[in-house]
Amino acid sequence: MGNGNTESTVQTSHVIPSAEVKDMVSYRVQHNKILEIKKLPTLPDIAYRLLDVLSQGDPDLAELEEIIRYDQAITAKVLSVANSAFYALQREIDTLHRAIVALGAREVGEIAFSICVFSVFRPLKSVGGFDLKEFWMHAIGTGITARILAQALDREDEEKYFTLGLMHDIGRLILLMVFPQEFEAILEQRQISGRSLLTEEKEAGLAHTWVGRWLLKRWELPEIFSIVARYHHHPFHKGHFLFEPALIKLADLTAHQMGIGNLPVGPLDDPSPILKRLGLNEDLYQAVQDHLVLIKEGIKEAWGQLL
Ligand SMILES: [Fe+2]
Ligand SMILES: [Fe+2]
Repeated sequence: MGNGNTESTVQTSHVIPSAEVKDMVSYRVQHNKILEIKKLPTLPDIAYRLLDVLSQGDPDLAELEEIIRYDQAITAKVLSVANSAFYALQREIDTLHRAIVALGAREVGEIAFSICVFSVFRPLKSVGGFDLKEFWMHAIGTGITARILAQALDREDEEKYFTLGLMHDIGRLILLMVFPQEFEAILEQRQISGRSLLTEEKEAGLAHTWVGRWLLKRWELPEIFSIVARYHHHPFHKGHFLFEPALIKLADLTAHQMGIGNLPVGPLDDPSPILKRLGLNEDLYQAVQDHLVLIKEGIKEAWGQLL
């Protein structure tokens, strides 16, 4: 047990809010193992402060620098990404301040936030066909794609989509951490059945959508994070269209199709209904894909060194 550092775990409350139980009962699985999770990793304090700054329309440069500069490990990693070929800067960036000026506060804040989230799950090992590096590459790819899609749609809230994309599948890491044997069996079963990984998780009572929602609520992140975790596979829910989960689903499908992060998730859904509902025409979607083709190797090179 620790006291909030990145390696520690905390005991969660044994009292489960009744609304959550009701929600899970309606899920119709014989035995919902999610309710058995007692221990969860904690998100470092700095991540909350970064998220706060990132939620500003125009993140404050000085505030961001103040948050990151005392953490040498994060600073060093930010500099190594800033100096990667992806950003094609004219000269070497050797201070955090210069990195923020050159890349922008938002970009640096998102890189730093990602490093914090990676660190929480650092002790984890890959299991049969589920490679942790590929998992994170998929998460980053989904985040970057989501931000590009939000820009293509002229969204005024475009700043939130990278972090939402980064966190959307986080429940799978809890499965790997808390139920490694069950998760390996799910992966094996998926290979045999050829069905989607989510379908197999549901069969086992361990849907990453539920676990992710559970974790993100425990972490007390803004509610939209747990909504996206829960609904990003089913953004058409009970007659409602859930915008953020839909955009993340489209980003997720696009990242898979582009090969940014290679995970054994099984057959992919057709993006057409979401494209239609989002009002993203074929030409514009094609332009997003063309852009991703151009930048994907750069993304892998720049971010791969952090994983
Ligand atoms: Fe997912
Ligand atoms: Fe995903």
